[in-house]
Amino acid sequence: MAAKMKLRNPQTMARSPGVTYQQLLDEDSKEVPPVLRLQSPVDLGDADISNERYTSAAWHDLEVKHLWRKVWQFACREEDLPNVGDTHRYDIAGLSFLVVHTETGDYKAYPNACLHRGRMLKEFDGNSSELRCPFHGFCWHLNGELKDVPARWDFPQVKDEDFSLPEIPTATWGGFIFINPDQDCAPFADFIKDMAEQFERWDLTKSYKQSHTAKIMPANWKIAQEAFCEAYHVNGTHPQILKSLGDVNSQVDVWDNCARVITPGWTPSPLLEAQPTQSEVIAATFDLREGDAIPEVPEGADLRQHFAAAARETLRADAPDRVDEYCDAELVDNIDYTVFPNFHPWGAFNRIVYRFRPNGNDHRSCIMECIMLAPFSGERPEPAPIRWLEENEPWSAALGFLGKVFEQDAFNMPKVQQGLETTYKPGVTLAGYQEAKVRWLHHKLTEWVENPAKEET
Ligand SMILES: [Fe+2]
Repeated sequence: MAAKMKLRNPQTMARSPGVTYQQLLDEDSKEVPPVLRLQSPVDLGDADISNERYTSAAWHDLEVKHLWRKVWQFACREEDLPNVGDTHRYDIAGLSFLVVHTETGDYKAYPNACLHRGRMLKEFDGNSSELRCPFHGFCWHLNGELKDVPARWDFPQVKDEDFSLPEIPTATWGGFIFINPDQDCAPFADFIKDMAEQFERWDLTKSYKQSHTAKIMPANWKIAQEAFCEAYHVNGTHPQILKSLGDVNSQVDVWDNCARVITPGWTPSPLLEAQPTQSEVIAATFDLREGDAIPEVPEGADLRQHFAAAARETLRADAPDRVDEYCDAELVDNIDYTVFPNFHPWGAFNRIVYRFRPNGNDHRSCIMECIMLAPFSGERPEPAPIRWLEENEPWSAALGFLGKVFEQDAFNMPKVQQGLETTYKPGVTLAGYQEAKVRWLHHKLTEWVENPAKEET
């Protein structure tokens, strides 16, 4: 059984020495919004997490049955389907679904399978006036009603009213389209409510898809996902950014179907033995090397305030309505949200949205994606098409400096997979506070995958 989720007392629980995130917010030059003042630390126990969740094909099969066939999941952006007849293929763990922009302006989703002999209806995204199977030509209207059966005289058993494409639930939020393969699923509002409340101030419908990068990674999808769910690994994996990142000062909050890690920028890690100088902090943030010019900043300036002000000016042209309302923290911190099971939009002006999925039914590889959502003024720019990186192509080929940091994360992934296949220790051990988001993900997996009866009642 999953451990019960208990709220912890932020005043008395074990925390890193040094400044807390809330104390950093006290120094903000602007009014801090209530959403950043929320604290929701939880106690989900301290039991190890079984390795089989990452290494077992049988566990993957249970995930497909109880999770991926049942849960709300992000399929695409609305801007990917701007016109009537636009279709998007969304695949998850060996299953394929078709999202369609219909004549009435709403989105419908269907299993991507012909009702005749089962062939996938569409392999590629595109635009069409009808959904016609390439095998024998059975054809449906965009709204799922049967349109045409070649040589219909030979199918006396096919009745129009019984031969509509089965529809699965869809929903939109923040410019994203979600689907649920389960026709009897719980309401979308239950899935999104915690995050929707907290993102009222950070309306992602106002942003457009500036880039979309995907790559197949050689590890279970949860190994890849969990590499982006805590800042505790920064010390070991990204030591070059410790001088400017309050890794262990991160605040970790957990609600029912949503969690977040906020890692402060422009503040040195408490793990460093010596306090870095101001220019060392700046050089670490901008990834400057010997001989590079260091941006001029008045000596002793509050770096969070200084670089938040600079960010306001950079963003002013694209977000003139919001930029002056946003506090320093919203411009310089890493506000990394997760909605179970695999949707990771960042808050405020940070542009990242991650998604991690199994790669078909191979439980030892996954699809990792990073979408960048950018504010814009005037007409909505065209969304960027997805760019798939080849096996040996680094993330930096698409994402520059951020991609170099991802490469450090990616370097660990197959080694974690191999280590978990090898180890004599039956489970992984998690930190109580800093890795609470990882533990929460597994708490939810326990509910969905190991105790599905509870979820189905
Ligand atoms: Fe990382």
